[in-house]
Amino acid sequence: MLGYAFMGKAHSNAFRKIGYMTWPPPLTPRLVAIAGRNEEAVSEAARRYGFERWTKQWEDLVADPEIGLFDNLGPNDVHAAPTIAAAESGKHVVCEKPLGRDADESYEIWSRVAATGVKHMCAFNYRFVPAVRLAREMIDAGELGELRHFRGRYLQDWGDTTEEVWRFERGAAGSGALGDLAAHVVDLARYLVGEIEAIGGFLRTFVPGREVDDAVEATVEFEGGAVGTIEATRLALGRRNAFQWEINGTQGSLYFDMERLNELQVFRADGDRARGFKTVLVSEADHPFWEHWWPPGHIIGWGDTFVHELHHFLAAIAGTTEVAPHGATFEDGYRAAEVCDAIVRSGERERRERIDYRTLTS
Ligand SMILES: NC(=O)c1ccc[n+]([C@@H]2O[C@H](COP(=O)([O-])OP(=O)(O)OC[C@H]3O[C@@H](n4cnc5c(N)ncnc54)[C@H](O)[C@@H]3O)[C@@H](O)[C@H]2O)c1
Repeated sequence: MLGYAFMGKAHSNAFRKIGYMTWPPPLTPRLVAIAGRNEEAVSEAARRYGFERWTKQWEDLVADPEIGLFDNLGPNDVHAAPTIAAAESGKHVVCEKPLGRDADESYEIWSRVAATGVKHMCAFNYRFVPAVRLAREMIDAGELGELRHFRGRYLQDWGDTTEEVWRFERGAAGSGALGDLAAHVVDLARYLVGEIEAIGGFLRTFVPGREVDDAVEATVEFEGGAVGTIEATRLALGRRNAFQWEINGTQGSLYFDMERLNELQVFRADGDRARGFKTVLVSEADHPFWEHWWPPGHIIGWGDTFVHELHHFLAAIAGTTEVAPHGATFEDGYRAAEVCDAIVRSGERERRERIDYRTLTS
């Protein structure tokens, strides 16, 4: 594992839980080594999370023959080199989102890693919320009919600060709310509705002196004919982690809010006089992922999405499933970055952009 802070804690917690909550696990994770720059902090993290050893050099992880899976949880500028090096030394790789700081870097990571033949997953963990998977299953089964609208917004409110964090540095982050939050919305839109073929949008920076965007606004067209909107900001006071989306089809609608993670709002156009959205508590035995957890109504939390995500990746390594379509591969990470780049271009050129996705051979 590279990185011991926010995501380091989330992924370590998940790896530890997989071993007993998802019994029998597809593979039993062994936490071999963790890398970070600060000796005191990384050695403490190793003790706390249960890693056998620690290092200040990520290159040590890449060279370690006992490591079979490399999990990159560093800032965005630390994604490319270690992830590519780990894959080229034969390790399966997980990399946090956004895959790279822009589409070019993301493409480089995807193409170099794909050439090695290892398994790869970009950690878009919101695909692994039970309500999101239920939504996908309902859409796949045709329960919403033909999809017409997607409305997605990811709102947080911590960004109006002079605190020095890597997320505000262009070199370290690549972008602001765009790569941090809008990338999640783009990935979810692609996962639930389908490929995005055109987009119009722009970025806005409000905080004086800030190197990256604070807000993103975009309108999208999907290959399947649906249309939609995408919004992301870290300046929506009162919205702490509000990843909200709504999908309207010809036969029904779905609505979700991350701050109500266990719930899916479902509307069916069934002609009932008393029709309206119903709130489904996604915690039944036959709901996605629920085989790992508790009796109905005994809800789970945000950190548990990483248990589902990394369990899925271990199953892919074990050969019992594929990373795609439910996990985001590095190709998905690259495609999300291509959409984000198109929003930037659209704002600069003041026109709608069609999106050309690169393939591995082009
Ligand atoms: N999927 C999600 O919901 C989600 C949520 C938050 C962050 N993220 C992503 O996870 C990544 C990490 O974000 P975070 O919030 O955990 O950041 P963080 O600042 O909390 O942690 C970054 C970690 O990387 C380490 N690090 C930095 N440079 C390093 C280097 N050269 N070598 C080794 N270690 C190094 C730091 O010591 C720290 O432990 C980012 O790409 C971010 O976009 C994803």
